[in-house]
This record gives sequence, structure tokens and C-alpha cells, in this order.
Amino acid sequence: MMAARKDLPRYTVPSLTPEDGAKVAEILQERLNSLTDLHLTLKHVHWNVVGPHFIAVHEMLDPQVDAVRAMTDAIAERIATLGGVPVGTPGALVKARTWEDYHLGRATAIEHLGALDEVYQGVIESHRKAAKDTEELDDVTNDLLIGHLHELELFHWFVRAHLESAGGGLSTEGATSELGAARQAREAKAG
Ligand SMILES: [Fe+2]
Repeated sequence: MMAARKDLPRYTVPSLTPEDGAKVAEILQERLNSLTDLHLTLKHVHWNVVGPHFIAVHEMLDPQVDAVRAMTDAIAERIATLGGVPVGTPGALVKARTWEDYHLGRATAIEHLGALDEVYQGVIESHRKAAKDTEELDDVTNDLLIGHLHELELFHWFVRAHLESAGGGLSTEGATSELGAARQAREAKAG
């Protein structure tokens, strides 16, 4: 009998191999890191937004914080259900993440919205990739991630609607960084 590999779960959900359970849990851990980072960042913006439209953006963000936090809970519990160990500590998150901390502190509503357009862009692209990567492996995890995308893409639109012109263009078009997107959003508003 082959010795069980140390990093494989002792059990996983019925019909999955321990190898596939471990692979899905690994994909989910990355999404857990990403969405934990997102709900903390959204609260940071909630606290640091200033200027005209303060209250609209301040109040728009709290339901997003709550919804994204609920997503992290579902992801972590799916990892445990698969026989894995969800890691939710801040130190582990910072060590594992491949992206930088949010770049803005106290800033105007339009600048934070420009930066958040970039943030949501990155999170949604990675979430869609994770959904694609779990398509063949585990329908239940795939369904969970698709469910998150319904909400994440809606929240992204809430942000983008502030950056949109009557002609349908986005002031952040072509931006490749949070600071660049914040600047484009500010300049479009001033111009
Ligand atoms: Fe608050």
C-alpha cells in the first residue's frame, strides 16, 4: 500500500480524489486571500474617502464589505469541507499574496473610485480564472465561485458607473495601476 502523501487531505468530499480535493483547496486558498484583502481594502476606503460625494461612497461600500466577507466565510468553509485547512491569519495572507497593498490613503471619492475600478478588475479576473480552473474538478466549488462573480461584477459596475460618461466611456480606460486610474478619474472630472 502506498503511503499517503503528507500534504493530501485524509478525506475529501465524495466522488473527488484526495489529489483533486487538495488542488481545489489550493485554488480556494488563493481566492480566500484575495477576498480577505478586498473586504479590508473596501473598509479602508470607507474610512478614508473625503470631499464631495463622501456619504454616497462611504455608504455604498459597507454592503460590499459585508458581502465580500460572507464570500470569504463560504470559501474557507469549502476548504475545510474538502478536508483542507483554511488559512485566515494576516501574516500568512501578506506572505502569500502576489499583489501590493492598496496605494491610496485619504483621497477624494473620484480618486478612490478610479483605484477601486483597478482593484475589482484584478480580483474578478482571478476569480474568473479560478472558476474556469475548477470547472472540470469540482462543480460545487465552481458554482460557489460563479455565485461570487454575480455579486463582484455587480459591485464593479457600481464603482464604474461613477467613472462613466454619458457616451458610455470609462475615465479609467487604459489605466494599468491604481494610482494611474485615480489620476485619470480625477482629471476627467476636472476637465
Ligand atoms: Fe463605518
